[in-house]
Amino acid sequence: MNMNRRAFLKTTGAGLMASAFPLSLVKIAFGGQAPAQDFTFGYISDAHLQQIQGNEFVRNWDMGLIRAVREANLLTPRPDFFMFGGDLAQLGKKEELDHGLQIMSNLRGKVHYVIGEHDYYLDLGEYWQSKIGPLWYSFDHKGVHFVTLNSILTYDSWIHKKWPSPMDRMLAMARLDNPNGSPFMVGEEQLTWLKKDLEKVNRSTPVVLFSHSPIQKIFKPWNFWTEDAERVQALLKPFEKATVIYGHVHQIEYNQIGNITFHAVMATAWPWPYPESYSQTASCLPKLTVPMNRADPFFERDATGWQFIDVRKGKVGMHYQLPDNKNRSVVFNSKAGKPQDVNYQDYGSRIPPQTHY
Ligand SMILES: [Fe+2]
Ligand SMILES: [Fe+2]
Repeated sequence: MNMNRRAFLKTTGAGLMASAFPLSLVKIAFGGQAPAQDFTFGYISDAHLQQIQGNEFVRNWDMGLIRAVREANLLTPRPDFFMFGGDLAQLGKKEELDHGLQIMSNLRGKVHYVIGEHDYYLDLGEYWQSKIGPLWYSFDHKGVHFVTLNSILTYDSWIHKKWPSPMDRMLAMARLDNPNGSPFMVGEEQLTWLKKDLEKVNRSTPVVLFSHSPIQKIFKPWNFWTEDAERVQALLKPFEKATVIYGHVHQIEYNQIGNITFHAVMATAWPWPYPESYSQTASCLPKLTVPMNRADPFFERDATGWQFIDVRKGKVGMHYQLPDNKNRSVVFNSKAGKPQDVNYQDYGSRIPPQTHY
Protein backbone atom coordinates (compact mmCIF):
# COMPACT_ATOMS: atom_id res chain seq x y z
CA MET A 1 0.00 0.00 0.00
CA ASN A 2 2.86 2.38 0.86
CA MET A 3 4.50 1.70 -2.48
CA ASN A 4 1.22 2.35 -4.23
CA ARG A 5 0.76 5.65 -2.46
CA ARG A 6 4.29 6.79 -3.17
CA ALA A 7 3.94 5.74 -6.78
CA PHE A 8 0.67 7.68 -6.96
CA LEU A 9 2.22 10.86 -5.55
CA LYS A 10 5.11 10.59 -7.98
CA THR A 11 2.89 9.89 -10.96
CA THR A 12 0.59 12.77 -10.09
CA GLY A 13 3.58 15.10 -9.75
CA ALA A 14 4.88 14.06 -13.15
CA GLY A 15 1.44 14.58 -14.70
CA LEU A 16 1.19 18.04 -13.24
CA MET A 17 4.64 19.02 -14.49
CA ALA A 18 3.71 17.86 -17.98
CA SER A 19 0.51 19.89 -18.02
CA ALA A 20 1.95 23.07 -16.51
CA PHE A 21 2.80 24.89 -19.73
CA PRO A 22 3.39 28.64 -19.45
CA LEU A 23 0.32 30.82 -19.16
CA SER A 24 1.67 33.07 -21.92
CA LEU A 25 1.07 30.25 -24.42
CA VAL A 26 -2.58 29.98 -23.53
CA LYS A 27 -3.49 33.65 -23.41
CA ILE A 28 -6.92 33.71 -24.91
CA ALA A 29 -9.14 36.75 -25.35
CA PHE A 30 -11.64 35.95 -22.61
CA GLY A 31 -13.56 39.12 -21.89
CA GLY A 32 -10.26 40.70 -20.90
CA GLN A 33 -9.77 38.01 -18.27
CA ALA A 34 -7.00 35.42 -18.20
CA PRO A 35 -8.33 31.85 -17.82
CA ALA A 36 -7.81 30.09 -14.50
CA GLN A 37 -4.45 28.42 -14.12
CA ASP A 38 -4.05 24.79 -13.15
CA PHE A 39 -2.83 24.14 -9.60
CA THR A 40 -3.23 21.81 -6.64
CA PHE A 41 -4.25 22.05 -3.00
CA GLY A 42 -4.62 19.65 -0.08
CA TYR A 43 -7.67 19.04 2.13
CA ILE A 44 -7.74 17.60 5.64
CA SER A 45 -10.99 17.40 7.61
CA ASP A 46 -12.94 16.14 10.62
CA ALA A 47 -10.16 15.39 13.12
CA HIS A 48 -12.52 15.41 16.16
CA LEU A 49 -9.68 15.72 18.68
CA GLN A 50 -11.11 14.89 22.08
CA GLN A 51 -9.65 15.80 25.45
CA ILE A 52 -9.80 13.09 28.12
CA GLN A 53 -8.23 15.25 30.81
CA GLY A 54 -5.28 17.62 31.01
CA ASN A 55 -2.83 16.81 28.23
CA GLU A 56 -4.49 13.46 27.54
CA PHE A 57 -6.42 13.19 24.27
CA VAL A 58 -8.06 10.24 22.51
CA ARG A 59 -5.08 8.59 20.83
CA ASN A 60 -6.86 7.21 17.79
CA TRP A 61 -8.23 10.60 16.65
CA ASP A 62 -4.84 12.24 17.29
CA MET A 63 -3.12 9.61 15.17
CA GLY A 64 -5.50 10.17 12.24
CA LEU A 65 -4.65 13.88 12.05
CA ILE A 66 -0.93 13.39 12.72
CA ARG A 67 -0.72 10.80 9.96
CA ALA A 68 -2.55 13.04 7.46
CA VAL A 69 -0.20 15.95 8.23
CA ARG A 70 2.87 13.74 7.86
CA GLU A 71 1.68 12.30 4.54
CA ALA A 72 0.65 15.71 3.20
CA ASN A 73 4.11 17.02 4.03
CA LEU A 74 5.52 14.47 1.54
CA LEU A 75 3.61 15.85 -1.45
CA THR A 76 5.90 16.86 -4.31
CA PRO A 77 5.45 19.33 -5.88
CA ARG A 78 3.99 21.22 -2.91
CA PRO A 79 0.28 22.07 -3.13
CA ASP A 80 -0.43 25.81 -3.29
CA PHE A 81 -2.35 25.71 0.03
CA PHE A 82 -4.37 23.47 2.35
CA MET A 83 -7.94 23.53 3.57
CA PHE A 84 -9.10 22.18 6.90
CA GLY A 85 -12.77 21.24 6.60
CA GLY A 86 -14.11 21.61 10.16
CA ASP A 87 -14.62 19.51 13.32
CA LEU A 88 -11.07 20.06 14.50
CA ALA A 89 -12.37 19.60 18.07
CA GLN A 90 -14.89 17.08 19.40
CA LEU A 91 -16.59 19.26 22.01
CA GLY A 92 -15.42 22.76 21.04
CA LYS A 93 -13.05 23.15 24.01
CA LYS A 94 -10.13 25.58 23.93
CA GLU A 95 -7.80 22.70 24.86
CA GLU A 96 -9.03 20.68 21.88
CA LEU A 97 -8.72 23.57 19.42
CA ASP A 98 -5.25 24.46 20.74
CA HIS A 99 -4.19 20.81 20.47
CA GLY A 100 -5.52 20.66 16.89
CA LEU A 101 -3.77 23.87 15.88
CA GLN A 102 -0.55 22.60 17.38
CA ILE A 103 -0.71 19.43 15.23
CA MET A 104 -1.74 21.46 12.18
CA SER A 105 1.22 23.82 12.71
CA ASN A 106 3.45 20.96 11.51
CA LEU A 107 1.78 21.09 8.09
CA ARG A 108 4.05 22.85 5.61
CA GLY A 109 1.99 25.48 3.80
CA LYS A 110 -0.80 28.02 4.23
CA VAL A 111 -4.01 26.59 5.74
CA HIS A 112 -7.52 28.04 5.34
CA TYR A 113 -10.11 26.80 7.85
CA VAL A 114 -13.82 25.91 7.67
CA ILE A 115 -15.68 25.69 11.00
CA GLY A 116 -17.71 22.59 11.94
CA GLU A 117 -20.50 22.13 14.45
CA HIS A 118 -18.11 20.42 16.92
CA ASP A 119 -15.97 23.57 16.91
CA TYR A 120 -18.89 25.98 17.26
CA TYR A 121 -21.65 25.04 19.68
CA LEU A 122 -19.77 25.41 22.97
CA ASP A 123 -18.95 29.14 22.71
CA LEU A 124 -20.56 29.96 19.33
CA GLY A 125 -17.24 30.33 17.56
CA GLU A 126 -15.69 32.89 19.92
CA TYR A 127 -12.40 31.08 20.58
CA TRP A 128 -12.16 29.93 16.95
CA GLN A 129 -12.40 33.53 15.74
CA SER A 130 -9.77 34.72 18.22
CA LYS A 131 -7.30 31.99 17.21
CA ILE A 132 -8.09 31.20 13.56
CA GLY A 133 -10.09 33.98 11.95
CA PRO A 134 -13.50 34.82 10.47
CA LEU A 135 -16.17 32.12 10.10
CA TRP A 136 -16.88 33.03 6.48
CA TYR A 137 -14.70 34.72 3.87
CA SER A 138 -13.56 34.52 0.26
CA PHE A 139 -10.24 34.66 -1.56
CA ASP A 140 -8.91 34.44 -5.10
CA HIS A 141 -6.17 32.14 -6.28
CA LYS A 142 -4.78 31.80 -9.82
CA GLY A 143 -8.03 32.84 -11.47
CA VAL A 144 -10.38 30.79 -9.24
CA HIS A 145 -12.73 32.42 -6.71
CA PHE A 146 -12.90 30.50 -3.40
CA VAL A 147 -15.65 31.00 -0.82
CA THR A 148 -15.76 29.54 2.69
CA LEU A 149 -19.09 29.45 4.51
CA ASN A 150 -20.19 28.68 8.04
CA SER A 151 -22.98 26.29 7.06
CA ILE A 152 -23.65 24.82 10.53
CA LEU A 153 -25.67 27.70 11.97
CA THR A 154 -29.23 27.03 13.03
CA TYR A 155 -32.33 28.82 14.34
CA ASP A 156 -31.62 31.53 16.96
CA SER A 157 -34.49 30.13 19.02
CA TRP A 158 -32.60 26.81 19.31
CA ILE A 159 -29.16 28.36 19.92
CA HIS A 160 -30.39 30.70 22.63
CA LYS A 161 -33.00 28.56 24.36
CA LYS A 162 -32.45 27.93 28.07
CA TRP A 163 -29.70 25.33 28.05
CA PRO A 164 -28.51 24.08 31.45
CA SER A 165 -24.99 24.92 30.21
CA PRO A 166 -23.20 25.69 26.91
CA MET A 167 -21.82 22.12 27.00
CA ASP A 168 -25.40 20.75 26.95
CA ARG A 169 -25.95 22.71 23.72
CA MET A 170 -22.68 21.36 22.35
CA LEU A 171 -23.62 17.77 23.23
CA ALA A 172 -27.04 18.16 21.59
CA MET A 173 -25.28 18.95 18.28
CA ALA A 174 -22.40 16.50 18.71
CA ARG A 175 -24.41 13.31 18.22
CA LEU A 176 -25.09 11.94 14.78
CA ASP A 177 -28.72 11.07 15.37
CA ASN A 178 -29.76 13.29 18.27
CA PRO A 179 -33.46 14.08 17.97
CA ASN A 180 -32.83 17.28 19.99
CA GLY A 181 -30.48 18.72 17.35
CA SER A 182 -31.59 21.33 14.86
CA PRO A 183 -31.12 21.55 11.08
CA PHE A 184 -27.98 23.31 9.85
CA MET A 185 -28.31 26.45 7.77
CA VAL A 186 -26.26 29.25 6.27
CA GLY A 187 -28.74 31.97 7.28
CA GLU A 188 -29.75 35.41 6.00
CA GLU A 189 -26.64 37.35 7.01
CA GLN A 190 -24.30 35.07 5.07
CA LEU A 191 -26.67 34.70 2.12
CA THR A 192 -26.71 38.51 1.77
CA TRP A 193 -22.92 38.59 2.05
CA LEU A 194 -22.52 35.75 -0.46
CA LYS A 195 -24.79 37.46 -2.99
CA LYS A 196 -22.68 40.64 -2.79
CA ASP A 197 -19.41 38.70 -2.87
CA LEU A 198 -20.40 36.78 -6.00
CA GLU A 199 -21.75 39.88 -7.77
CA LYS A 200 -18.13 41.05 -8.15
CA VAL A 201 -17.08 37.80 -9.83
CA ASN A 202 -17.09 37.33 -13.61
CA ARG A 203 -19.53 34.54 -14.61
CA SER A 204 -16.74 32.72 -16.46
CA THR A 205 -14.51 32.64 -13.37
CA PRO A 206 -14.58 29.19 -11.73
CA VAL A 207 -16.06 29.28 -8.22
CA VAL A 208 -15.20 26.73 -5.52
CA LEU A 209 -17.25 26.91 -2.32
CA PHE A 210 -16.19 25.22 0.92
CA SER A 211 -18.69 24.31 3.62
CA HIS A 212 -18.82 21.88 6.52
CA SER A 213 -22.28 20.42 5.93
CA PRO A 214 -23.32 19.46 2.39
CA ILE A 215 -24.95 22.32 0.46
CA GLN A 216 -27.38 19.68 -0.77
CA LYS A 217 -29.99 17.61 1.04
CA ILE A 218 -28.89 14.02 1.64
CA PHE A 219 -30.22 12.76 4.97
CA LYS A 220 -31.97 15.02 7.47
CA PRO A 221 -31.92 12.78 10.59
CA TRP A 222 -28.10 12.96 10.63
CA ASN A 223 -27.82 16.56 9.41
CA PHE A 224 -26.24 15.42 6.16
CA TRP A 225 -28.25 18.42 5.15
CA THR A 226 -28.31 22.23 4.93
CA GLU A 227 -31.79 23.68 5.31
CA ASP A 228 -31.25 26.63 2.93
CA ALA A 229 -29.04 24.69 0.47
CA GLU A 230 -31.22 25.65 -2.51
CA ARG A 231 -30.69 29.36 -1.82
CA VAL A 232 -26.90 28.92 -1.94
CA GLN A 233 -27.24 26.78 -5.08
CA ALA A 234 -29.32 29.56 -6.70
CA LEU A 235 -26.47 32.05 -6.10
CA LEU A 236 -24.02 29.65 -7.78
CA LYS A 237 -26.32 28.98 -10.73
CA PRO A 238 -25.11 31.81 -13.02
CA PHE A 239 -21.51 30.55 -13.02
CA GLU A 240 -20.15 28.39 -15.82
CA LYS A 241 -18.10 26.32 -13.37
CA ALA A 242 -19.18 25.90 -9.75
CA THR A 243 -17.98 23.30 -7.25
CA VAL A 244 -18.93 22.69 -3.62
CA ILE A 245 -16.57 20.74 -1.34
CA TYR A 246 -17.86 19.74 2.10
CA GLY A 247 -16.84 17.72 5.17
CA HIS A 248 -19.08 16.46 8.01
CA VAL A 249 -20.27 13.25 6.31
CA HIS A 250 -16.93 11.39 6.77
CA GLN A 251 -17.39 9.46 3.51
CA ILE A 252 -16.89 9.75 -0.23
CA GLU A 253 -19.91 11.36 -1.88
CA TYR A 254 -20.24 13.17 -5.19
CA ASN A 255 -23.07 14.60 -7.16
CA GLN A 256 -24.02 16.98 -9.96
CA ILE A 257 -26.99 19.35 -9.63
CA GLY A 258 -27.33 21.54 -12.73
CA ASN A 259 -24.05 23.43 -13.12
CA ILE A 260 -22.83 22.60 -9.58
CA THR A 261 -20.47 19.70 -8.84
CA PHE A 262 -20.42 18.39 -5.27
CA HIS A 263 -17.66 16.47 -3.51
CA ALA A 264 -17.34 15.32 0.09
CA VAL A 265 -14.03 14.82 1.87
CA MET A 266 -12.98 12.03 4.23
CA ALA A 267 -12.43 12.40 7.96
CA THR A 268 -9.12 11.66 9.63
CA ALA A 269 -11.02 10.46 12.75
CA TRP A 270 -13.59 7.80 11.78
CA PRO A 271 -16.01 6.91 8.95
CA TRP A 272 -19.74 7.43 9.26
CA PRO A 273 -21.87 4.69 7.73
CA TYR A 274 -23.67 5.53 4.50
CA PRO A 275 -27.24 6.44 5.45
CA GLU A 276 -28.76 3.84 3.15
CA SER A 277 -26.70 1.03 4.69
CA TYR A 278 -27.69 1.86 8.25
CA SER A 279 -31.12 3.37 8.45
CA GLN A 280 -34.51 2.12 7.38
CA THR A 281 -35.46 5.67 6.45
CA ALA A 282 -35.10 6.58 2.78
CA SER A 283 -32.03 8.73 2.08
CA CYS A 284 -31.09 10.85 -0.89
CA LEU A 285 -27.54 9.61 -1.28
CA PRO A 286 -26.74 10.74 -4.84
CA LYS A 287 -27.25 7.89 -7.33
CA LEU A 288 -23.91 8.83 -8.92
CA THR A 289 -21.96 8.04 -5.74
CA VAL A 290 -20.20 4.66 -5.56
CA PRO A 291 -20.06 4.00 -1.79
CA MET A 292 -16.95 2.51 -0.20
CA ASN A 293 -17.02 -1.01 1.16
CA ARG A 294 -16.25 -0.64 4.85
CA ALA A 295 -15.43 -0.51 7.65
CA ASP A 296 -13.04 -3.09 9.00
CA PRO A 297 -12.93 -2.93 12.80
CA PHE A 298 -9.45 -4.49 12.83
CA PHE A 299 -7.94 -1.42 11.16
CA GLU A 300 -8.56 1.73 13.12
CA ARG A 301 -7.72 3.92 10.11
CA ASP A 302 -10.11 1.98 7.83
CA ALA A 303 -12.13 4.34 5.62
CA THR A 304 -10.40 7.45 6.93
CA GLY A 305 -8.01 9.69 5.03
CA TRP A 306 -7.32 13.05 3.47
CA GLN A 307 -7.39 14.60 0.00
CA PHE A 308 -5.05 15.82 -2.68
CA ILE A 309 -7.02 18.01 -5.11
CA ASP A 310 -6.06 19.21 -8.55
CA VAL A 311 -7.80 22.11 -10.24
CA ARG A 312 -7.68 21.87 -14.02
CA LYS A 313 -9.49 24.29 -16.26
CA GLY A 314 -11.45 25.39 -13.20
CA LYS A 315 -12.83 21.94 -12.28
CA VAL A 316 -11.55 19.82 -9.41
CA GLY A 317 -10.22 16.27 -9.30
CA MET A 318 -10.43 14.65 -5.87
CA HIS A 319 -7.68 12.19 -4.99
CA TYR A 320 -8.57 10.41 -1.77
CA GLN A 321 -5.52 9.30 0.21
CA LEU A 322 -6.74 6.31 2.22
CA PRO A 323 -4.02 4.71 4.35
CA ASP A 324 -5.81 1.37 4.89
CA ASN A 325 -7.75 1.26 1.63
CA LYS A 326 -7.03 1.60 -2.05
CA ASN A 327 -6.81 5.27 -2.98
CA ARG A 328 -9.72 6.61 -5.00
CA SER A 329 -9.97 9.44 -7.52
CA VAL A 330 -13.21 11.20 -8.42
CA VAL A 331 -12.71 13.62 -11.29
CA PHE A 332 -15.06 15.85 -13.28
CA ASN A 333 -15.69 14.26 -16.67
CA SER A 334 -16.37 17.15 -19.04
CA LYS A 335 -17.88 14.89 -21.71
CA ALA A 336 -20.34 13.35 -19.24
CA GLY A 337 -20.85 16.72 -17.48
CA LYS A 338 -20.50 15.16 -14.01
CA PRO A 339 -17.90 13.80 -11.59
CA GLN A 340 -17.00 10.14 -11.92
CA ASP A 341 -14.84 7.67 -10.04
CA VAL A 342 -11.82 7.00 -12.24
CA ASN A 343 -11.69 3.25 -11.45
CA TYR A 344 -14.97 2.13 -9.94
CA GLN A 345 -17.79 4.09 -11.60
CA ASP A 346 -18.77 1.21 -13.87
CA TYR A 347 -20.58 -1.48 -11.95
CA GLY A 348 -18.51 -4.26 -13.56
CA SER A 349 -15.20 -2.79 -12.35
CA ARG A 350 -16.11 -2.68 -8.68
CA ILE A 351 -14.20 -4.79 -6.17
CA PRO A 352 -16.01 -7.42 -4.09
CA PRO A 353 -16.57 -6.28 -0.49
CA GLN A 354 -13.68 -8.35 0.93
CA THR A 355 -11.21 -5.94 -0.69
CA HIS A 356 -11.89 -2.43 0.47
CA TYR A 357 -11.80 0.49 -1.91
FE1 LIG B 1 -17.22 15.44 11.63
FE1 LIG C 1 -19.63 17.88 11.51
